[in-house]
Amino acid sequence: MRMKHALLSTAASLALAFAAANAPAGTANAAPGLSGQVTGPQGAMEGVLVTAKKNGSTIAYTVVSDAQGRYSFPAGKIEGGEYALRIRATGFDLDGADRDGALKKAIDPQNPTTADLKLKKTRNLASQLVNAEWMMSMPGTDDQKAQLLNCVGCHTLERIVRSTHNADEFTQVVYRMANYAQVSQPIKPQKRMDPEWAPKPESFRKFAEFLAAINLSETEKWQYPLKVLPRPSGRATKVLITEYDLPRPTIEPHDVILDKNGMVWYSNFGEQYLGRMDPKTGATSEIPLPEFKKGFPVGTLDLEIDKAGDMWIGMMFQGAIAKFDPNTEQFKFYPIPKEKNDNVTQLNMLGLEHQVDGKIWTNNAGNQEVYRIDLASGKYETFAPMKQITTPGNHTIYGIASDSKNNLWFMEFQDNYIGKLDAKTLALSFYRAPTERSRNRRGIMDENDRLWFAEYRGNKIGMFDTREESFKEWALPTPWSGPYYPVVDKNGEIWTGGMTTDRVVRLDPKTSQTVEYFLPKDTNMRRVFVDNATTPVTFWTGSNHGASIVKVEPLD
Ligand code: HEC
Repeated sequence: MRMKHALLSTAASLALAFAAANAPAGTANAAPGLSGQVTGPQGAMEGVLVTAKKNGSTIAYTVVSDAQGRYSFPAGKIEGGEYALRIRATGFDLDGADRDGALKKAIDPQNPTTADLKLKKTRNLASQLVNAEWMMSMPGTDDQKAQLLNCVGCHTLERIVRSTHNADEFTQVVYRMANYAQVSQPIKPQKRMDPEWAPKPESFRKFAEFLAAINLSETEKWQYPLKVLPRPSGRATKVLITEYDLPRPTIEPHDVILDKNGMVWYSNFGEQYLGRMDPKTGATSEIPLPEFKKGFPVGTLDLEIDKAGDMWIGMMFQGAIAKFDPNTEQFKFYPIPKEKNDNVTQLNMLGLEHQVDGKIWTNNAGNQEVYRIDLASGKYETFAPMKQITTPGNHTIYGIASDSKNNLWFMEFQDNYIGKLDAKTLALSFYRAPTERSRNRRGIMDENDRLWFAEYRGNKIGMFDTREESFKEWALPTPWSGPYYPVVDKNGEIWTGGMTTDRVVRLDPKTSQTVEYFLPKDTNMRRVFVDNATTPVTFWTGSNHGASIVKVEPLD
């Protein structure tokens, strides 16, 4: 070798000769790549997520090991250089990894690299559990546990079960939480401006007693076994996941959607920006939105593209609806009238079939009113549908959707109502999902006027055929999945995700069979989106807790 090197003149040919000398016979000058086998204490492990991220890159790729423990990254994703490898397999850590769980690996720029990964049992299982696993593990009735579905928006349940508060303290903690706007996160709390918003601390006494029974107030260790959901297997391992980091940890990409050119757009739940990301490069840009109400929580929610290609945004506590023209990059605002613009005002959702009658719908989550805005005049019409519900309880509206005639449909979030406000007659009708207290969250109207909606507490996806006035429901495979939003793809399959499992669910409504794709990090999925332009379809969502955009490409 030394002789041969001495004969070569340029640095380039030296590098080539070196690569060729290291490569197994027959693979000289093949493309770079990364593959290997994952083994644990019991041998080969299926369903282990392996993530590779190049040093300095904002894009991470994840694949899943198969039944033989083998994983491999598809061609073109891995290039030469220094990489950090990580795994996710609940109950296990990557042997040899640093304190952040990363194993450094140099990738050969010219030849495939092999990295066999050894997993060892973790000594810190509690920090690896998803919310649904905590809820499955802890003692208590379903009614008691279901209250925790109100605690998973801003942080995971881990900080609740690890706390040492007794019931007295918890009445105050829960009261404090209730006064945070839902756009909050622990690194950026944002307070509600209405001093009367939360009920008094004492009203949380029963829940506080339950919380003090599942945390570490009286014991050093949890007195209940920690249950772990199964790892992915079979079809659920045939997937490529791409995570695109956003520039700041305070960005909460709530609604992630693609336009017709394949550009990714997102609403930022915690800041006054409309975000845009080029999926080819991961490059992001942010378009600032004004702060109409200084001192009130910032952040935006529903993001939609209308039939003309304009974008619409619910500006929440800032008290307006924004329209964005992507060609001129100009906003036009439809502010709520002054007399309605109070401490609780919160315009969240949009009903956009305005090509029918020149009007759009929105809702006020502060006072449960619904508004219809005439786009020519900017005038708001007011409706208060929740006042018509006569059964006991504090009924609230979550998602809204327009049908093809621009009638408004809304999902009720405490009980199981679906409501309709007729655009012509203004008549109100109510329907109830078959599952009691399903807590209907967001929904989407398809081209046949079928309303698909997520049953947050019911743990199902519901469909209401608005023409036939009939319901259908499909149960999700994992308890406490807490689905937030469903979409139906071009093949008729349903996709959903939620805030509790880090699992994307793909459901075939004909067979009720499901595939669950496990995500590499605590993701807290809200809006989900399917790109039908690819085959198989591509799933997109935002990581509300991880400030990243997540793409899931099933391989079948
Ligand atoms: C609207 C957002 C939000 C929701 C919903 C929320 N939290 Fe929090 N939580 C926060 C923020 C922000 C912090 C960090 C600042 C703080 O401690 O006040 C926090 C911190 C905590 C802590 C650690 C601090 C402490 O005082 O021990 C506990 C425990 C906690 N939350 C319990 C809960 C419980 C129980 C619920 C459900 C009833 C809940 N949280 C729901 C925003 C929220």
